[in-house]
Amino acid sequence: MSSHDTGSHPEVLDETEIMYIEKKRQSPITNILFVCLGNICRSPLAEAIFLSHACLAGVEDQFKVDSAGTGRWHVGEQADPRTIEIARRNGITINSLSRQITNKDFKHYDLILAMDQSNLLELQTRCQKKYHYKLKLMRTYDKLESHGADVPDPYWSSDDGFEQLFKMLSFCCLKLLTSLMVATDESP
Ligand code: 4NP
Repeated sequence: MSSHDTGSHPEVLDETEIMYIEKKRQSPITNILFVCLGNICRSPLAEAIFLSHACLAGVEDQFKVDSAGTGRWHVGEQADPRTIEIARRNGITINSLSRQITNKDFKHYDLILAMDQSNLLELQTRCQKKYHYKLKLMRTYDKLESHGADVPDPYWSSDDGFEQLFKMLSFCCLKLLTSLMVATDESP
């Protein structure tokens, strides 16, 4: 078993999952937003990997995904070339442009996944309390021992950091997809 196998599913649903099931009864589409600081490395990669997993599972029509940054330094820019390259090497195309999160996002998205604690804090500060249940850390969908940990910011790291980033996000995205499918008992 590799260190990033999806493992077993949690048996107790949390508040986000209960709201997700409730919402799914009303609309078949789940809107997911991935958030990091600059929206050029981690969150566009998470968005593209999740969509790729959903396509492979044949359930892409059930999800609308996007990504955003808490900061606005890179608004309008393409993803970091290292992000585009690691995705390309794994058969995934990234052509998103960076954008900053807006107040409307908190209402629109069902699940908003922050890449690290600092992003999460920023989201909690900006988001109305009634939507706080939508905010989660990305690594909530990693192995149990990594819950609460950050997806490390790779911006200042080597290409090797992007290799590790891809593996970590791929694992988390697969677990996220599986847990959403299990929550509504629609696992492929
Ligand atoms: P990201 O990485 O949050 O994963 O997109 C970063 C991109 C840019 C910067 C920091 C992190 N920056 O300082 O410009």
